[in-house]
Amino acid sequence: MKVFTACGPYVDFVTVNVSSPNTERLRDLQGAEALRALLVRVLERREEMGKYTPVFLKIAPDLDDDEIEAIAEVARSLRLDGIIATNTTIQRKGVKSRIRKEIGGLSGPPMFEKSTRVLARLSALTQGHLPLIGVGGIDSAETAYAKITAGASAVQVYTALVYHGLSLVDEIVRGLEARLEADGYSQIAQAVGSKRGDWL
Ligand SMILES: Cc1cc2nc3c(=O)[nH]c(=O)nc-3n(C[C@H](O)[C@H](O)[C@H](O)COP(=O)(O)O)c2cc1C
Repeated sequence: MKVFTACGPYVDFVTVNVSSPNTERLRDLQGAEALRALLVRVLERREEMGKYTPVFLKIAPDLDDDEIEAIAEVARSLRLDGIIATNTTIQRKGVKSRIRKEIGGLSGPPMFEKSTRVLARLSALTQGHLPLIGVGGIDSAETAYAKITAGASAVQVYTALVYHGLSLVDEIVRGLEARLEADGYSQIAQAVGSKRGDWL
């Protein structure tokens, strides 16, 4: 709340991150009751600041269907500006690296499928009424487009920038244009959620 109060006047949006695995018990705030209480305070503070700063909620991929549904309901009822799905995962399924047992969040391609499934589930629950931002394992135009067709209106890339550099952004943008054209769409919005069913 202190950060929001200090930075709110200068930023274009804020993200309430209740999903980092690196802060002890932070993810407990994803429970419906605690989440609602936290977000109500954030939204009240926004009201007091007199400037409309969009508020996004960022969630973990390690949630079951009931938890995702409860979060979607809180977000919808409080009219949040969107949900960012997802943060890193604490699971290591399919990871063969010898350091897979290290604690902390796993990011990048090994978590692509898991985070995209959460995104698609949210998309099905919110049916286009809540903007969703897809993140987790995007490393190409193909994976960025998969997030969009699973339900994301926008995407974020983190880990892949370390491995591919900033030119990846241009590559993704060009690749997305080609994919939209191939699918007969003139804008991203038309593709959003078009293949959500593949992930459910
Ligand atoms: C080193 C590192 C630090 C991160 N720090 C934050 C953070 O402070 N806040 C946050 O919301 N997410 C944080 N994330 C999560 C990323 O923003 C992103 O949600 C996640 O890594 C999945 O995307 P990616 O596969 O493109 O990296 C961090 C990820 C990594 C790898």
